[in-house]
Amino acid sequence: MLKPKRVLVTRDQIRDKVKEMARAIDAAHQGDELVLVGVLKGGIVLMADLMRELRLPVRLDFIAAESYGASTETSGVVKLTRDVTTDLRGRHVLLVEDIVDTGLTIRYLISHLKGKDPASLEVAVLLDKVSRRKVPVDVRYRGLVIPDAFVVGYGLDYAEHYRNLPDVMVVEEDGT
Ligand code: PRP
Repeated sequence: MLKPKRVLVTRDQIRDKVKEMARAIDAAHQGDELVLVGVLKGGIVLMADLMRELRLPVRLDFIAAESYGASTETSGVVKLTRDVTTDLRGRHVLLVEDIVDTGLTIRYLISHLKGKDPASLEVAVLLDKVSRRKVPVDVRYRGLVIPDAFVVGYGLDYAEHYRNLPDVMVVEEDGT
């Protein structure tokens, strides 16, 4: 049975990285109002933390896509399961994600949202598994690059478990 066995990124490290990201976003968008688009479900924890660190005015919306299901391997086919309801035309949009792995999800969402004619569209992600990338993605604000381990916590799940863990942990076979 797979269980969270060791901490990869502590809650303190996450807090520091989220603050750094917020300062970079504030600096890049002086005078703008941002539409934060959280990617469900995993993106909600970063969304909740990041929005409270930002000094810019923000609106919130959410979007959802699927490609993993209950599996640990992406199917490669991304499907939109919930669209934003905000009119994004002429607005500054920031996609907020927990993790970029192959890049397929975020690439799909970027392409989908570009069709709504935003003034700008950027990506903020806490964790980046750069070594797993299958398609290039422009991640403008990145918390940490992590190795190719199966991680849970801070929004990330294993078969819908462990999203509420405050640290990012590696899932391993439970031999004990
Ligand atoms: C996870 C994660 C990203 C995506 C990253 O979502 O939140 O959206 O996978 O993988 P990729 O770069 O290989 O596309 P998941 O599909 O597991 O949905 P969830 O957020 O509801 O857990």
